[in-house]
Order: sequence, then structure tokens, then C-alpha cells
Amino acid sequence: MITEKETVLVTGGAGFIGSHTTVALQEAGYRVLILDNLCNSDVAVLDAIAEITGEAPGFIEGDIRDRALLDEVFANHRIDAVMHFAGLKAVGESSAEPLSYYDNNVNGSLQLLQAMQRASVRTIVFSSSATVYGEPQSLPLTESHPRSATNPYGHTKLVVEEMLESLHASEAGWRVARLRYFNPIGAHGSGRIGEAPQGTPNNLLPYVAQVATGRRTEVQVFGADYDTPDGTGVRDYIHVLDLADGHVAALAYCRRTHNELLTVNLGTGKGHSVLEMIAAFEQASGKQVPYKIVARRPGDIAQCWADTEKAYRLLGWRASRTLSEMCEDAWRWEQSRGGVEAAGK
Ligand code: NAD
Ligand code: WQD
Repeated sequence: MITEKETVLVTGGAGFIGSHTTVALQEAGYRVLILDNLCNSDVAVLDAIAEITGEAPGFIEGDIRDRALLDEVFANHRIDAVMHFAGLKAVGESSAEPLSYYDNNVNGSLQLLQAMQRASVRTIVFSSSATVYGEPQSLPLTESHPRSATNPYGHTKLVVEEMLESLHASEAGWRVARLRYFNPIGAHGSGRIGEAPQGTPNNLLPYVAQVATGRRTEVQVFGADYDTPDGTGVRDYIHVLDLADGHVAALAYCRRTHNELLTVNLGTGKGHSVLEMIAAFEQASGKQVPYKIVARRPGDIAQCWADTEKAYRLLGWRASRTLSEMCEDAWRWEQSRGGVEAAGK
């Protein structure tokens, strides 16, 4: 419990995970200031957050690569900690436009950390990814599993993880959390905020949801010849609200420890196949989700799921929401969007 309201600067707070985490932070008693350039989100999210929590988060439209703006933000607001979600995340696009990924994700993080250093704000929670484990050598994936990357997006996450580690080692007082997300899905139960991919969704669940509404005709299942129980890819899907709670727990951990470099997985520890996900979504929505087995997607791994013990031991946090809840909440959100190209903008 916090006695005096602390302010968290949330970069990328208008996006999918940042908006749900903003709600969780406000509900935990923090004040939130969002910095987002809206390149993949809509300003209407702010009203939705205010409706849910009864409090509008502060908002600055701007880019994390804008040095002058960052200095202004830190000079004009008493920031206690930063949660850093801002970045680009489409794996395929990162191979086509690597420089914009290095610029947004690596240069953006560098600018942010330098501004934090200038302002003596030394607590940061960073959105890393299970993608840093590359091809799993053993399962479940523990935080000590070797890291590697197979695409520019993954490389940017590795570089920022390293940057944070070097910074932490170089100067006393830094409290750093590197949170490795598995596959976040679902939406807030109000149906007011959720995932709004622009154009054709890259990820499985938003695609399945759009097939259920009839907006797309069928799911293409990328490979049914993997060494998994039904041959389709297995992933650790986690409700975005559990993920958001994990951030609040990580921040609380950073606040009660000193000079900490925390690296934890945020997952459920359970894997589900593509076909299981389609069946679960049909069950939750009451709609048919036609699918067709097609070739494997290049670069995909067969299966992965998290070892969740470290997060529980250090943070006292575990994911609690079921697969049905994830699908029901994603379905409510998809319906509330009315099947239109709501997308980011
Ligand atoms: P998102 O695209 O919904 O949110 C990112 C937000 O950052 C958007 O609102 C976008 O407008 C903003 N943004 C991007 N570049 C910016 C910049 N240069 N300056 C200011 N704002 C900028 O994505 P998300 O799913 O919420 O992901 C958040 C973070 O979590 C990302 O760093 C992503 O790499 C990481 N992550 C996501 C997943 C996932 O599956 N969604 C998994 C692992 C890690
Ligand atoms: C899940 C499963 C696909 C779409 C990606 C990024 C990763 C992370 C999360 C940020 C796989 C299959 C998918 C479709 C399908 N992001 N699939 N048809 O691949 O685990 O991870 O997003 O860090 O970096 O690589 O998630 O949702 O794309 O795929 O059959 O139309 O669904 O092959 O088995 P993935 P996903």
C-alpha cells in the first residue's frame, strides 16, 4: 500500500498492454502520466481508461526519441518511476524495415534512459519478451535459458535488455525490471479497452476474433506437423489483466528493494495449441471459427511456455485468469468494436 500518490510515466500507455497496465496502476493508487506518439493507438483510449477507473491519466502526445520533450516532461512532473512499453512489435515488419525498429526500440530506449539519468529518475520497468529465448532448448523456459534472436524485433529486445544491465552495473541506485512477456491476449472486462491491430492481425487471437465476427473468412493455421500433441504450435497465452497486475507487482518489488536488476517471466506456465485456442474461442463466442491448415510460418518455433516460479517467489504474483476468461473478454471487446476497422486510428 502506498501512502502518498507516486507518479509513473508510462511510455506507450495508449497501446494494448500499456492501457491495461495504466488501469491497474491507477487502481493500485498510482498517478499515471502517459507519453505516446499514437503511431499504433488511438487517443480515445484515454476516455475509456477514465471511464473504467474514474480518473483520466495525464497524457502527452510525443515521441520517446524527442530529447527536448523528454527533458521537459521530467522537469515539469515529479516522476517516481517509468514503465516503458513504447516501441514497435511486428516481427515480419521488423525484417522489412529493420532500421525503424532499431530507431524506435533501441534509440528510443536509449533516449529515454539518458533523460532519466539526467533527471535522476532511476526506476524502470521494461517490456521485454519471451522472444529473447529464441528456439527453446528446454521447457519450461526459465529466466536463465540462453538468449538469442532470429529477427530484428527480437534483437532490439536483446539490445535493450543488455543496455539496462550495463547501466545498472555502472551506477548505483538503478532499479530495473525486465519483464519477459509470453503471449498476452484478452481485454478489460468492461469491453472498453483491448487489442486493436491495424490491418491484418499478425497474432493468432485477434485473427481468430475477426473470423468469429465474420470479418475474415477463415483462420490459416500455420503448420500441423510440429512435434506437439495435435501438430499445431503451442504457446503460453496470458490474460492482459494478469500481465498488468504483474507490472504493479514488479514495481512494488523495485520500490521495496534497492539497486535491483529483476528479470522475470510473465506467463501462466501452461501451453495451448492453435487448435485448442480456436476451440476455446468458439466456446466463448458461440460462433464457428472455420480454419485451414497451411504451411508453417517461417521463423516460428514449435512450442514454448514459461517457468513461473521466479515471478511467484520474488513478486508473489501468479496469473489467475483462465483461458475461457481470456477468450470471453477478447470476444466482448471485438463485438464492442462493431467489426469495423477501428484499429489504431
Ligand atoms: P502496442 O503497439 O499496442 O503499444 C505500443 C504503444 O507505443 C503504442 O500506443 C504506440 O503508439 C506507442 N509507441 C510506439 N513507438 C513510440 C515512440 N517512438 N514514441 C512514443 N510512443 C510510441 O503494443 P503492445 O502489445 O501494447 O506492446 C507493448 C510493449 O510490449 C512493446 O514494447 C512490445 O514490444 C512488448 N511486447 C508485446 C508483446 C505482445 O504480444 N503484445 C509481447 C512481448 C512484448
Ligand atoms: C501464435 C501461434 C503461430 C497466426 C509473436 C512474436 C513474439 C511476441 C508475440 C512480442 C503460433 C500460430 C498465428 C495465424 C496461426 N511478441 N498462428 N495463424 O508467434 O508466439 O509470437 O507474438 O514480443 O515476439 O513472435 O504469436 O500469435 O503470432 O502465434 O496458426 O494467423 O499461432 O504459428 O503457433 P507468436 P502469434
